[in-house]
Amino acid sequence: MKRRTSGPPDLDELVRLARAARHRALAPYSGFKVGAALLTDSGQVVTGCNVESATYGLTMCAERVAMFKAISEGQRKFVAVAVVADSSRVSAPCGACRQVLWELGGDLWVRLADLKGRSRTLRLAELLPLPFDRRNL
Ligand code: THU
Repeated sequence: MKRRTSGPPDLDELVRLARAARHRALAPYSGFKVGAALLTDSGQVVTGCNVESATYGLTMCAERVAMFKAISEGQRKFVAVAVVADSSRVSAPCGACRQVLWELGGDLWVRLADLKGRSRTLRLAELLPLPFDRRNL
């Protein structure tokens, strides 16, 4: 994917990939499918979808699936994440995902999108002000 040096990178393609990943969601309990696509600094994209467990608590969100996949594949630097869900209002990452994205990805561009073409773009620091991270230890 192409990147510009300032301002958000082209996030439309990232949304398309998150939307495709959403189709692979395994969400038989909530019925709420989520797709995520994470853009690395080298232009690679790693996707994720939510995967639910019958225990409920072991469910993993799309954003963390994408980030853990990326880390396990050797990726360490990230630029942006797109998250797609079908919701009455644009769906933002849960608190656990905000924490993990912040610690492993830093101040990412975040594009939130739904299936109707509505979207919102912001920085992760806006979603997680005053974070707890390695600087606190
Ligand atoms: N979910 C995500 O995948 N990402 C979020 O940021 C919020 C919630 C999933 C978890 C669960 O499978 C379903 O959405 C309902 O909470």
